Amino acid sequence: MNVDLVGKVVLVAGGTGGLGRSVSLAFLVEGAKVVATYRRTEEFDSLKIAAGSKSEGLVGKQVDITDELAVSSLVADVLKSDGRIDAVVNTVGGYAGGLKLWETESKVFGRMLDLNVRSGFALARAAMPAMLGQGSGVFINVAAKAAFDHAAGAGAYAASKAAAVAMMDCLAADALGTGVRVNSILPGIIDTEANRRAMPGAAFDKWPKPDEIAKVILFLASDASRVIHGASVPVYGSN
Ligand SMILES: NC(=O)c1ccc[n+]([C@@H]2O[C@H](COP(=O)([O-])OP(=O)(O)OC[C@H]3O[C@@H](n4cnc5c(N)ncnc54)[C@H](OP(=O)(O)O)[C@@H]3O)[C@@H](O)[C@H]2O)c1
Repeated sequence: MNVDLVGKVVLVAGGTGGLGRSVSLAFLVEGAKVVATYRRTEEFDSLKIAAGSKSEGLVGKQVDITDELAVSSLVADVLKSDGRIDAVVNTVGGYAGGLKLWETESKVFGRMLDLNVRSGFALARAAMPAMLGQGSGVFINVAAKAAFDHAAGAGAYAASKAAAVAMMDCLAADALGTGVRVNSILPGIIDTEANRRAMPGAAFDKWPKPDEIAKVILFLASDASRVIHGASVPVYGSN
C-alpha cells in the first residue's frame, strides 16, 4: 500500500523513545519531514545517526511535553519554519504498576496523568487550531490495551490510559467534519529494550515490534486511512 507521506510535516512527541524512534525513522523513510521531541541529547544524536541519509529531514526539539507553554512554543516554532503540521503522533507516556491502588502514591498517580493524559491534552490544545485552519491533519495518540483491560495492580496506569482514550474520542467528536482526523492506538507489551531488561525471561518473539506498530501509525497518518476517525486501534497482535 502506498502511504504517500512525501513532504508531510510530522511532529513525533517522544520521538526518540522505544516506539517513538521507530515511528520517527519510518516517517523519514517515507520522505516526511519529522520534528522529533526528546529529553536527552544523546538519544536524539543516536536517532540522527540511525536516520543516516534521511537525517536531513529530521529536526530535534528538547521539550517537556507535559508543559503546556513549552508545547505551545514548540508548535509555534514548527509553524514558523514549515508553515503547517500534517500529523501529530504522541508517543510520550509512562508506566507504573505492581501495587494495589491503595498502596499507590499520589505522586505516581499524578505522574501517570501527566505523561499519559496531559501530554495529549497539551499537544491537542497547541496543534489542533493550526490543523483546523488548514482543514486537514491527523492526530494519533498512543494509549494502551490497559485502557480497556483493567487488571489488578495497574489502577493509576489503566485509569490514565482510559482517560487518554476518552479524551481522544471527544476530540474526534469535536473535530467531526473538519478534515482533521483523530485516532488512538492500543499497544500491549512492545518488544523494546526496556521491556527486555524488565522481563528477561519472557518470550520476546511474541511481542509486537516497534517497527510493526510504526507501520500502523504510518497508515493512520496517510490518506489511505481517511475513513478511520475516532477509533482506538488494537496493535497487540494475537499472542
Ligand atoms: N512499551 C510498552 O510495552 C508499551 C505498552 C503499552 C503502551 N505503551 C505506550 O506507548 C508509548 C511509547 O512507549 P515506549 O515504550 O516507547 O516508552 P519510552 O521508551 O519511555 O518512550 C517515551 C518517550 O517519551 C519521552 N518522554 C517521557 N516523558 C516526557 C516528557 N515529560 N516530555 C517529553 N518527552 C517525554 C521519553 O524520553 P526519555 O527517554 O528521556 O524518558 C521517551 O523518549 C507510551 O505512551 C506508552 O505508555 C507502551
